[in-house]
Amino acid sequence: MTRRRILIVDDEPQVLDSLQRMLRATGEPWELCFAGSGPQALAEVAAGGFDTVVVDVCMPGRDGFDLLAELRHAEQTRDLPVIMLTGVNEPGQKRRALDLGATDLLTKPADAEELLARIRSALRLKSYQDQLKAQNEILERVVQERTADLENSRLDIIWRLGKAAECRDEDTGNHVVRVGCSCRVLAEALGLPREQVQTIFLVSPLHDIGKIGIPDYILRKPEALTPAEWRIMKRHCEIGAQILRQDSKVLDAFLAWRDGPRPRAAAAHDPVIELAATIALAHHERWDGLGYPAGLRGPDIPLAARIVAVADSYDALLSERPYRAAFPEEIVLKTLREGAGAHFDPNVLAAFLDVLDELQAIRAELTDNHKWAPVAFSSV
Ligand SMILES: [Fe+2]
Ligand SMILES: [Fe+2]
Repeated sequence: MTRRRILIVDDEPQVLDSLQRMLRATGEPWELCFAGSGPQALAEVAAGGFDTVVVDVCMPGRDGFDLLAELRHAEQTRDLPVIMLTGVNEPGQKRRALDLGATDLLTKPADAEELLARIRSALRLKSYQDQLKAQNEILERVVQERTADLENSRLDIIWRLGKAAECRDEDTGNHVVRVGCSCRVLAEALGLPREQVQTIFLVSPLHDIGKIGIPDYILRKPEALTPAEWRIMKRHCEIGAQILRQDSKVLDAFLAWRDGPRPRAAAAHDPVIELAATIALAHHERWDGLGYPAGLRGPDIPLAARIVAVADSYDALLSERPYRAAFPEEIVLKTLREGAGAHFDPNVLAAFLDVLDELQAIRAELTDNHKWAPVAFSSV
């Protein structure tokens, strides 16, 4: 165990001397430090590491009560035990000391036995406080680690779900991951709060989850779609929102069967899932109102969906599709620039151009190198 440190504060050197002799005579392995004024004591305490302070009430300038008030005010010393000594037997002084948060108030000259008993008790109190603080820190760390684990597994599941949907119409598999990363960069460039940036990053890979409900012959058709096929294709927005939007009956049934406590009422309406549904529904809306499914216009389109629209279009145009080759980058950038104020929110597009090099780095890092191998069945 480390040596307990006691700070003794008194403006009279002979009092400091006699207290020092008294405490040394106990043979206790305490480290004693001394200060001759309130300001000097504060400087010593600020350097840290004391377990108890013994302070004289009457000192010139800032007295013992002032020192006590300052110690109680500062976060670091709020709970530091303080024993006060007074030479004046004034009624009400003890009450004032205790009200201000002193551990005790004794009269001078201090009775050795009494002072020692009070110091030992103050040191015990400090040691319990230290243990409690250490345990709380460990607990806090464990909670943070568990929360990070849960958050990671949530991200993992969400992104795998996005990739599962992507497998239906693409063989290459990194488009949704690139869209997620690009949306984060765009949201940051637009100055959105950190929590919103994180949420958009988390759920934007689900923007095309509704393609799960579109038939293969349309999704993988190597030629342009007919108008009727387009109408079906466009339904992926509503299907995606339906998959994601929480149906309270389904949620109640799930919670009734699941072990463990029910979530708080607020958690039943998960804003993260709600944003995922909003993006799935609105990522093909256009700034000029000519998009689908609702034909929303301008700022009526949720901002997260406007961000996904730019990131998704940039990456999709640069990628090969069953019915066309990938476009060269200069054509893609020209198309996007021309789309500012028509297809795209001009602010989002300006932010996109500002961070283009970061988006290009994302594409270079997360290339479409993973081709899904055709499943081979062994002939037994
Ligand atoms: Fe889409
Ligand atoms: Fe997409």
